Amino acid sequence: MRLDVVTIFPEYLEPLNLSLVGKARARGQLDVRVHDLRKFTHDRHNTVDDTPYGGGPGMVMKPEPWGEALDGIIASGEAGERPTLVVPTPSGRPFTQQLAVELSGKPWLVFTPARYEGIDRRVIEEYGERFDVREVSIGDYVLAGGEAPVLVMVEAVARLLPGVLGNAASHQDDSFAPGRMESLLEGPVYTKPPEWRGRSIPEVLLSGHHGKIARWRRDEAFRRTAANRPDLIEGCDPAALDKHDRRI
Ligand code: ADE
Repeated sequence: MRLDVVTIFPEYLEPLNLSLVGKARARGQLDVRVHDLRKFTHDRHNTVDDTPYGGGPGMVMKPEPWGEALDGIIASGEAGERPTLVVPTPSGRPFTQQLAVELSGKPWLVFTPARYEGIDRRVIEEYGERFDVREVSIGDYVLAGGEAPVLVMVEAVARLLPGVLGNAASHQDDSFAPGRMESLLEGPVYTKPPEWRGRSIPEVLLSGHHGKIARWRRDEAFRRTAANRPDLIEGCDPAALDKHDRRI
């Protein structure tokens, strides 16, 4: 998968050299290219923003540097290759595990993290006419810019790519994984030693009885979901849970 990120803070994306994403890059599974938006300006101060038409607080990112940067990136693709543009914005559609799965199936993603009050709307319109453009929010809060959301989204997408996680089965149990645990959060996990500061692990986990362990995990997942995300229980289909139980 190819990923391009256009930003005025290229250093903000340095964590993409670390851990899972860094290793995927080193193995050639991910081709990540970070571009400095200011390189596509032509004035002495490398201006990327201006005051909003109609007045109001804050600044708006000018369309010209974005247009130049995106045209160059798009032209650098193989003939016929078309990227999906991901525009982080608190006004976007929610970023969910389902969207992460969908994006992980695309060959090429271009992220456009903005600062200030956002990017001049005409940029979204211009590329939206020719490309698949997704305006995406990572949650109902406002950050100072889209770079942290890009780190979040890239990590969520990269771990779904074939061969990136050591154990391919491990994301089937993820909280929010489409299909498997329906909409339950994952329950608690334990490792050695069996006793720590007088606290032992739940006995069922030592029983070796896979059916009982799976049922216990389901119950714990349900308990945690009811406590932390009652909204998810409402969307839970009891028939799907029963079907899951019968597979145990
Ligand atoms: N930029 C600022 N806040 C954001 C959010 N919650 N999601 C995506 N991009 C953002």
